[in-house]
Amino acid sequence: MLVNVEDHRRGARRRLPRFVFDYLDGGADDESCLRRNRADMEGVALAPTCLRDVSDIDSSVTLFGRRWRVPVAVAPTGFNGLLRPEGDRLVARAAAAAGVPFCLSSASNVRLERIGGDGRGERWFQLYVMTDRSIAEQMLERAQAAGFTALVVTVDVPMGGNRERDRRNGFRLPFRPSLATLLDICRHPGWLAGMARSGAPRFANLGRDEDTRQSPALQAALLSRAMDRRLAWEDMAWLRARWPGPIVIKGLLHPEDAVRAVHAGADGIIVSNHGGRQLDAAPSTISILPAMAAAIAGRLPVLVDSGFRRGSDVVKALALGASGVLLGRPILYGLAAGGERGVRTVLETFVTEIETTMTLIGAATIGDIGPHHLVRPS
Ligand SMILES: Cc1cc2nc3c(=O)[nH]c(=O)nc-3n(C[C@H](O)[C@H](O)[C@H](O)COP(=O)(O)O)c2cc1C
Repeated sequence: MLVNVEDHRRGARRRLPRFVFDYLDGGADDESCLRRNRADMEGVALAPTCLRDVSDIDSSVTLFGRRWRVPVAVAPTGFNGLLRPEGDRLVARAAAAAGVPFCLSSASNVRLERIGGDGRGERWFQLYVMTDRSIAEQMLERAQAAGFTALVVTVDVPMGGNRERDRRNGFRLPFRPSLATLLDICRHPGWLAGMARSGAPRFANLGRDEDTRQSPALQAALLSRAMDRRLAWEDMAWLRARWPGPIVIKGLLHPEDAVRAVHAGADGIIVSNHGGRQLDAAPSTISILPAMAAAIAGRLPVLVDSGFRRGSDVVKALALGASGVLLGRPILYGLAAGGERGVRTVLETFVTEIETTMTLIGAATIGDIGPHHLVRPS
């Protein structure tokens, strides 16, 4: 029975070949950041306030001028097509049904025109800026035309993190699986049948035309995240000139950068360590969140991700100054384990757990959650 996120994780592990599960689940180096995200989250406790009227719980928020069913959004994740054929579309549909924004990655496997523009659900577009800036420019043009509302610019990947599980599994492009990996693939016929039907996923949005087949070298560059390392704060003006809607900067962990984001004209920030997949020495996001929120001082919405597995984790972040939380792996566990229905179940679980936590701490609305609900370890 799939009762919580961890159950979906186990389901994903069963359904996926090892190299795919490791790609989804793993972190950088020793994976200490991955563990720190969870350990620090568990170290935060919530103090309930009692005898408040909690007969009617409203867990909705309004952010960037839109109402969200709960203060949760789907984080951008690349290569969703490796977990399920049409993975990006399945996740987008589940997010729309749940009433929360879906963010499509630059490294997605479905053309963005087939995701946005149908009027259902709020769609954001995540941008990786590669050395050839015309790739970013054409994606921005197309995302805007297709009705994506906000732009998420990921800034914590000047190069790919050292994901040792991927290296051990030989997972890089062009993909040359070892004999052991081939045998393991055969032991996962459900996954294999999907891939046989859809063909190997490719990065569908790097070219202007549907037919554009990226060269193996370009695909490899994206997978290894060979990004434009010259990208700097000054380039925000270049982006602003090409994107009229909200621009949200993803991957900030330093209070000085939070202030820079305000001065650069960003509309929001995402405090993120990329789910422990980049700098293994990075702080957990829940521990740095108060300093980030203090630096922003209410001037912009502060979103956060990395390590959120329970509705109570979301409430902890709100008490520490966040406006909302993005979910990465929980969504992907749901996708791998149960497709669109799996993602819906994960999102419904978050809604239920957020509302249960609110009821138990005496907060009838999101605005009622605050620092007075925090207990700091002595
Ligand atoms: C398999 C996978 C692929 C990801 N791909 C991207 C990506 O293409 N762009 C991006 O900005 N972040 C990417 N991320 C990071 C997520 O957006 C998010 O920051 C992270 O997953 C949050 O941590 P969590 O998985 O613990 O929820 C990826 C994460 C995972 C697990």
